[in-house]
Amino acid sequence: MNAGNEIESILEEAQKVINGSKTETDLDNNKNIFIGKKGKLTAVLKNIGSLSIEEKKIFGQRANQAAEKIEEYVHKVRTSLKEEYYSVTLQTEKFDTTRPLKPEETGSLHPITKIQYEIEDIFTSMGFSIMDGPEVETDYNNFEALNFTGDHPARDMQDTFYTSDGNLLRTHTSAIQVRTLRELKPPFKIIAPGRVFRYEEVDASHENTFYQIEGMVVGKDISVSNLIYTMNVLLKEIFQKEVKVRLRPGYFPFVEPGFELDISCMVCDGSGCSVCKHSGWVELLPCGLIHPNVLKLAGIDPAEWTGFAFGLGLDRLVMMRYAINDIRFFHSGNLRFLKQSF
Ligand code: DAH
Repeated sequence: MNAGNEIESILEEAQKVINGSKTETDLDNNKNIFIGKKGKLTAVLKNIGSLSIEEKKIFGQRANQAAEKIEEYVHKVRTSLKEEYYSVTLQTEKFDTTRPLKPEETGSLHPITKIQYEIEDIFTSMGFSIMDGPEVETDYNNFEALNFTGDHPARDMQDTFYTSDGNLLRTHTSAIQVRTLRELKPPFKIIAPGRVFRYEEVDASHENTFYQIEGMVVGKDISVSNLIYTMNVLLKEIFQKEVKVRLRPGYFPFVEPGFELDISCMVCDGSGCSVCKHSGWVELLPCGLIHPNVLKLAGIDPAEWTGFAFGLGLDRLVMMRYAINDIRFFHSGNLRFLKQSF
């Protein structure tokens, strides 16, 4: 058989064999019979040594065209195999999206997530934006830019997990304040929910991983009255009733003055119980006016702009609202706990 005819007959055979492929693996194997390393067409090409240059040229061209044709057959079959696969899968894996779920089939939001969403709604309705930041932070964003300069003793207030490259797991969502101050131009109102980490012994009221929502307002003439008003709205919405609050001085290097905002105990209505250590008050919300140094470090002129900030512990808040007495429930993965309707 001359070389030209040989190519024609390989092509004919290839078409038959390739068209008979039942699966994509089958198809790949069949393709290799013809244009793989040890394929028939490849073999023919290896034997053209004895031909004249002119013949080699013509023959080589035909072989290339044949190879292209075979690729075409393969492509066609692959497309139709894929289509067949999807239409079969669609038929067999059909499910009824309108069937109501049985109660044991439904999942639910974690109580902390739920309260986070609620708080986001309350603040966005007051015109706040929601900001985000990474869980692994730089020492600068977590401490330095918040006026914890050098080896400021206040750093010891927050036992920290450091990473081997000198970064850390953020100890508070206040790190997002720093990012925001650099990113947005005042005036602005933001909240920033997030997971935070402390190198702590775990017990009924301490976790090494917990959740906070940071809040920050920067504008002209922002005062403590604005802060108290905003906190009152928040607490009234969350607890669905007027909540008595009091401010005590509190120290955080990034606010001046700094406060601890206490609410009257929800469990005993302020008359004194074990939850409030018989004081009638529960510490809930540290806050204050943003320290001028913090604004300055972010390139904002404290003579022109002022602001307030607060950090709300979500775990504590959920515990208060549902009278949960052990923080360890939150990460326990205990379905009996999680399946309660919060
Ligand atoms: N970041 C502080 C902490 O986790 C809480 C805090 C205090 C946040 C005062 C604030 C603030 O925004 O103004 O201990």
